[in-house]
Amino acid sequence: MSRIKLTTVAFKGTEEQEKQLRNTLMEIRNSDHPSVMTALQQAQAIYGYLPIEVQQIIADYMGVSLEEVFGVATFYSQFTLNPKGEYAFGVCLGTACYVKGSGDIVAKLEECLGMKDGETSSDGKFSIGSTRCVGCCGLAPVMTVNKDVYGKLTVKDIPDIVAKYKAL
Ligand code: FES
Repeated sequence: MSRIKLTTVAFKGTEEQEKQLRNTLMEIRNSDHPSVMTALQQAQAIYGYLPIEVQQIIADYMGVSLEEVFGVATFYSQFTLNPKGEYAFGVCLGTACYVKGSGDIVAKLEECLGMKDGETSSDGKFSIGSTRCVGCCGLAPVMTVNKDVYGKLTVKDIPDIVAKYKAL
């Protein structure tokens, strides 16, 4: 089971999203191979993450327990239970970045933001997520903040970068 702290950011799904989710779940339930995995993938495509409220709807439609849905959602790394922050820090953990110390970058980021990889701050402003190769291995180790890309990072660079976004 995941040790990721679940977000305290209030869930704010729209009626339109819920309608889309319920229609999709109906289709999945009536298909030849209904699966919780497919339901979670579709739900994440609609909401961008998997809040507990959405997992409950999936459980109801698929006729399984919330625990089962939660178990699948936390087992696979493709699923995220927290919304991205307004400023989403993504540290590349692809091979080139990893061998150049991106693990240390994540640790420093966690220290500076006071939360763990995979979490979102309670005010919704920041999130930390690891990413796969973002295609600029020559700049390893690489970190993105929304569309901004930072390369050839050292641990010493992180406090200043974090301070820049805290000031926004
Ligand atoms: S491995 Fe990090 S950018 Fe390619």
